[in-house]
Amino acid sequence: MASVSLFPLFLFQLREWLVVLLLVTDEGCSGPAVNATLSAPIGPTAVPKLFEGNWAYRNSLSLQQAPAKGTWQRLFLPSFLLLSSTVLVTWIFKSDVAFGSDALRLAGSLLSLRLYKATGVEQWRSKSENRAVPVVMGGGSSSRFDELFQPSWSMDHVTYEGEVLKLKLDNYSGSGFSSKSKYMFGKTTIQIKLVGGDSAGTVTAFYMSSEGAAHNEFDFEFLGNTTGEPYLVQTNIYINGVGNREQRHSLWFDPTTDFHSYSIMWNKEQVIFLADETPLRVYKNKEKNGVPFPKDQAMGVYSSIWNADDWATQGGRVKTDWSHAPFVASYRGFEINACECPSAAAPAENFKRCSSGGATQYWWDHPVMAELSVHQSHQLMWVRANHLIYDYCSDYARFPASPPECERR
Ligand SMILES: *[C@@H]1O[C@H](CO)[C@@H](O)[C@H](O)[C@H]1NC(C)=O
Ligand SMILES: *[C@@H]1O[C@H](CO)[C@@H](O)[C@H](O)[C@H]1NC(C)=O
Ligand SMILES: *[C@@H]1O[C@H](CO)[C@@H](O)[C@H](O)[C@H]1NC(C)=O
Repeated sequence: MASVSLFPLFLFQLREWLVVLLLVTDEGCSGPAVNATLSAPIGPTAVPKLFEGNWAYRNSLSLQQAPAKGTWQRLFLPSFLLLSSTVLVTWIFKSDVAFGSDALRLAGSLLSLRLYKATGVEQWRSKSENRAVPVVMGGGSSSRFDELFQPSWSMDHVTYEGEVLKLKLDNYSGSGFSSKSKYMFGKTTIQIKLVGGDSAGTVTAFYMSSEGAAHNEFDFEFLGNTTGEPYLVQTNIYINGVGNREQRHSLWFDPTTDFHSYSIMWNKEQVIFLADETPLRVYKNKEKNGVPFPKDQAMGVYSSIWNADDWATQGGRVKTDWSHAPFVASYRGFEINACECPSAAAPAENFKRCSSGGATQYWWDHPVMAELSVHQSHQLMWVRANHLIYDYCSDYARFPASPPECERR
């Protein structure tokens, strides 16, 4: 017991306090934040690792506006919770009970939660959650494939069976589809079941892109693997024609055995990549620091499957085994909840049309959409701690000078 260092414990308490502070100050964010605190695999030893290179907390902290309504709840309660939970945990720590660090972690979480509940923050919070977020477009319900999309490459490799669309890759061709319209802001979701068995050398992509040399693009690329080896997800962001912003993640599920939803949420403040509603990646608007942010070009929605065995699997060492063709990716649940742009409109016109103002209030312009919710911040931390394989922001060999959007330490 005595060998447990106080420092991680202190960090842990500090984190608990921050969570409570965020919960109190982050108005109306959605998601079961209480469960999130318990389910996130965060313990004393994990805390320093999670803080490292993590921007979610800093972002969330910047969310605290000047206290307006309910000031005492915002200021008094967090301070009270900090003090009491620290006192209690320190007391447990001091009393010579043979807790392991896991027990301490659990006790810390439970105490904070108990206090959090006991002080009525939760009621206050659920009241603020019930304040409706105005939604004007779409109901989040999915559409038929052909209401929104059309085959765009190799028609005979695209089949539509009932609700499920299939894209096929064989030694003759890959295939793809694209949205009929272009969009600005909002959220696009598709459920995908990736190529089962041997998918080595294949890439299935789901992305949004504008047109032209200075195009913007938000990419999901699912990199296949040999039978039994895991798929990786590579995400990338192109702004004004320049990409080189790759991240790679493993997934916490097998994406080949069932359909999972993949989404891109886009507004003026951030671009979020989500898998089953869990954020994998966030690109924040840091224009005020001179970092470009994509918000002036309407984008189409695309998907395709192709052969990329020169780089995709294990760095290109594993080639596509054509005896296992055709490689088939399946799709369903097509949702585009976004602002549709007429193809003839100029960018400035589109921007105006897709921004809130006057009688229009788009959900993506609501203040809560400018940041991840507390729950999502936890999820992102968890993903980064457990599933991040590669991040261009920490690739010092490739980028000796830090890309401006990366906050390196
Ligand atoms: C959160 O906890 C409540 C009660 O403990 C439970 O009913 C609910 O299903 C949980 N939600 C999630 C997403 O786990
Ligand atoms: C493609 O594969 C089929 C079956 O494996 C084979 O018969 C055919 O010759 C191949 N075609 C090309 C162009 O490689
Ligand atoms: C494929 O599996 C190997 C071995 O498990 C792994 O190292 C690799 O990251 C996986 N994914 C890709 C795209 O190479």
